[in-house]
Amino acid sequence: MDYENLKTRYDDGILLVTINREKALNALNRQTMLEIRYLFEAHAADLQGLKGVILTGAGTKAFVAGADIKEFTSMNQESATAFSKAGQDIFFLIENFPKPVVAAVNGFALGGGCELAMACHIRVAGEKARFGQPEVNLGLIPGYGGTQRLTQLVGKAKSMELNMTGDMIGAEEALRLGLVNHVVPQGEEVAKATEIIQKIGAKAPLAIAKVIQCVNAHFREGKDAYVTEHQEFGALIDTQDMKEGVAAFIEKRKANFTGS
Ligand code: CAA
Repeated sequence: MDYENLKTRYDDGILLVTINREKALNALNRQTMLEIRYLFEAHAADLQGLKGVILTGAGTKAFVAGADIKEFTSMNQESATAFSKAGQDIFFLIENFPKPVVAAVNGFALGGGCELAMACHIRVAGEKARFGQPEVNLGLIPGYGGTQRLTQLVGKAKSMELNMTGDMIGAEEALRLGLVNHVVPQGEEVAKATEIIQKIGAKAPLAIAKVIQCVNAHFREGKDAYVTEHQEFGALIDTQDMKEGVAAFIEKRKANFTGS
């Protein structure tokens, strides 16, 4: 697919994806959401050589300033419900992607932008990044999972407050609340995200995929994630990587994982 609104660069097993609508502060219009869906579906089908994905925003001002508000004027209840469900499904693709996905948050991460960052496995924020769920200012609520993932990350009290006030918080406050993993000097977000993916890339790939699956299982209603965990623990025991990892420990050498 030729992307209109995404820029991609592949380097040493890491796919850097830049949401590229700088004039609209990288707002997620329909086309951009379609392109994100295509990208994650295509890469999930062929993971060969891929260590992880970094998502960032074009320019220095915004990661993503939300869903594209200008597209809301033509929606009715039916189409808005479908719009929200489709967006949630795309963000599930990111959340469940079997390789680490890191958000390199280089500016405003508002509404759908904060939700996009939260769907990623790890968030690195530049020191000028700003986070918030301002949908109540538009007479709306978050539609791409914000009421759920913000609660998962920062707890009920702060999620209630942020979702109801629409307040923006800075990177340091986001770090204190557990919304982001790291704060770095402005402009160093992608470098830090790369370092994290390289570190994870040295581990056993099947085990990393199972970590993602098991941690996510905790948050899906009706799932007993302890069951997921013991089943997936059992499933790893017969892999070559597990045999190699254990042998390397005993032989006091570095493991050579092959993802099998
Ligand atoms: N959708 C569409 N266009 C947007 C946008 C958005 N979410 N955010 C910014 N833009 C556009 C502006 O309209 C403006 O375009 P023009 O130059 O053509 O007028 C351009 O980006 C620059 O924005 P501003 O002039 O507003 O820049 P600023 O520095 O004064 O303010 C800002 C920056 C505080 C981020 C402000 O742009 C803003 O509040 N944006 C909207 C944030 C928002 O409400 N996001 C939630 C969207 S709803 C949602 O996401 C629902 C969901 O859960 C799925």
